[in-house]
Amino acid sequence: MDDDAQVRQSLARVIEGHGLSTIEASSAPEALAILERQGEMPIVISDINMPEMDGVTFLREALHRYPDMAIVMLTGVAEVTTAVECLKLGALDYISKPFLVEEVRARVDKALEKRDLVLQNRFYQEHLESRVRELDRRNKQSLINGVQMLVHALEAKDAYTSGHSTRVSRYAVKTAVQLGFTAERLEHIRLGGELHDIGKIGTREDILNKPGPLTPDEFQHIKGHAALGERILAPFLAESPVVLRIVRSHHERLDGGGFPDGLAGAHIPTEARIVAVVDAFDAMTTNRAYRPSRTPADAALELRRCAVTHFDPDVVDAFSRAFPDPTLLPISI
Ligand SMILES: [Fe+2]
Repeated sequence: MDDDAQVRQSLARVIEGHGLSTIEASSAPEALAILERQGEMPIVISDINMPEMDGVTFLREALHRYPDMAIVMLTGVAEVTTAVECLKLGALDYISKPFLVEEVRARVDKALEKRDLVLQNRFYQEHLESRVRELDRRNKQSLINGVQMLVHALEAKDAYTSGHSTRVSRYAVKTAVQLGFTAERLEHIRLGGELHDIGKIGTREDILNKPGPLTPDEFQHIKGHAALGERILAPFLAESPVVLRIVRSHHERLDGGGFPDGLAGAHIPTEARIVAVVDAFDAMTTNRAYRPSRTPADAALELRRCAVTHFDPDVVDAFSRAFPDPTLLPISI
């Protein structure tokens, strides 16, 4: 690209003699129009001083649209500072006028080589990124499969847990939405809800399914499921500490009277407070070995009665906003 037809044509001859085809443009707007029509070119050689749009403006414009295009500036002796500025802006090289045939060939070859390298790098980078994404997706999928397997293992052992984990998970997610949770935080809640009781895999079946009241020792044994669940899951969920906290802390009470750590108030993660509320609701509204279920409306009242002592009142509010009509509960899964 040069407004001087003679320079343009002799340059084109040199380049064609070197085995490449050329398109000539007499101004920057014309060159941009050609690029628009034909798509990116491997290399553009651009004059600096041109009447309509100078080479520097062209360089910026062209690189903005085609970041991988090799642009070599054609500079008069007096324009060396401008040429250096062009290199800073992303031009690959410059050729000084009057040019030598050998120099043009060498600079064109070098510019094309550099562009190839840029393209190769880009390819590897993109390829790598998509590979990492794919691996990440597969990892997540196998984690989910593993989680389902654990939940099924627990449900096979404890008939009363059947469906409990899934319901808790769904109640918890809808409640969390009311509290403004999105994206990854909702995913933590979903997973934490599914897994909160997983430690019961380690609870003795005769205690788990005992029809009468529990002795203090038996109750102590059952309480162990929260911390045990966290220990079982820790190797899988090292990158999701919030999920582990849900599992460990879903039996904490707001007044500090819960287990396993006796945490109070804000020391209990919000996620665990959410699961605590919906877990209690589902436990109350489904039959257990030791007692029949309450009606959902009754259970909702009970949650409200125990707000502040047991439960976070904001979470109880959010739960009733998420499920305004308790008669529609429990949800079927
Ligand atoms: Fe539990």
